[in-house]
Amino acid sequence: MNIILLGPPGAGKGTQARHLVDIRGMVQLSTGDMLRAAKSSGTEMGQKVAAIMDAGKLVTDEIVIGLIEEKLTSESGAGFIFDGFPRTLAQADALAALLAKLGQSLHTVIEMRVDDDALVKRIAGRFTCGDCGEVYHDETKPTAAEGKCDVCGSNKMQRRADDNADSLRTRLMEYYKKTSPLIGYYYAKGDLRPVNGLADIIEVQKSIEAILG
Ligand code: AP5
Repeated sequence: MNIILLGPPGAGKGTQARHLVDIRGMVQLSTGDMLRAAKSSGTEMGQKVAAIMDAGKLVTDEIVIGLIEEKLTSESGAGFIFDGFPRTLAQADALAALLAKLGQSLHTVIEMRVDDDALVKRIAGRFTCGDCGEVYHDETKPTAAEGKCDVCGSNKMQRRADDNADSLRTRLMEYYKKTSPLIGYYYAKGDLRPVNGLADIIEVQKSIEAILG
């Protein structure tokens, strides 16, 4: 089963994707994580995208489609979770073509609905474990022991370079201009299932599980 988690920055896509990986053995394909890995390893592509990402703009379709194509042909599991991809209509068309080439299809697009005020609070309080990638929040999901990851015990907690007010404004603008048209696109295809992303993390998990069956 292949699914897309669609929603604005901070909607909770990564948080829910990690849960689905844990309980269903699905494979999370986060283009944001792939690009951050390229950025921190200093590859030529990473250097090219660093400033774009920090400013909150979208990286070119060509780069992200290439990243997804490589993962689709090299990873396997109980289905893919597309987290932060597609983000443009061109990416959505490319994904449909890539899946068709592999004899696969898209099961559901989960639209995570959250209002902008909540997004600002979520982004401002987010931090992640630098070793295992677990996502936390100062208020809604703190670590049990301060500064120590609940999952792997690491004390390498990080905040993202693009989690600041200026970049978030640009990220939201990019979302409304380029990504939100995908809501209508997938609705018209009959694939879209909205969930209330404002509910707490466990409630959102339950809504997604009810949809996936
Ligand atoms: P990316 O990494 O994809 O970032 P994003 O879409 O902006 O999404 P986020 O990771 O910020 O949020 P999320 O929805 O995963 O929320 P999370 O679960 O962390 O992309 C980064 C950049 O890479 C882009 O700006 C662009 O430059 C580039 N890029 C990536 N993909 C691209 C593409 N396809 N095309 C072009 N460019 C691309 O949750 C947020 C916080 O809220 C956490 O602290 C969490 O603990 C908390 N939280 C989560 N759920 C809840 C809840 N239900 N209640 C309360 N708190 C919650």
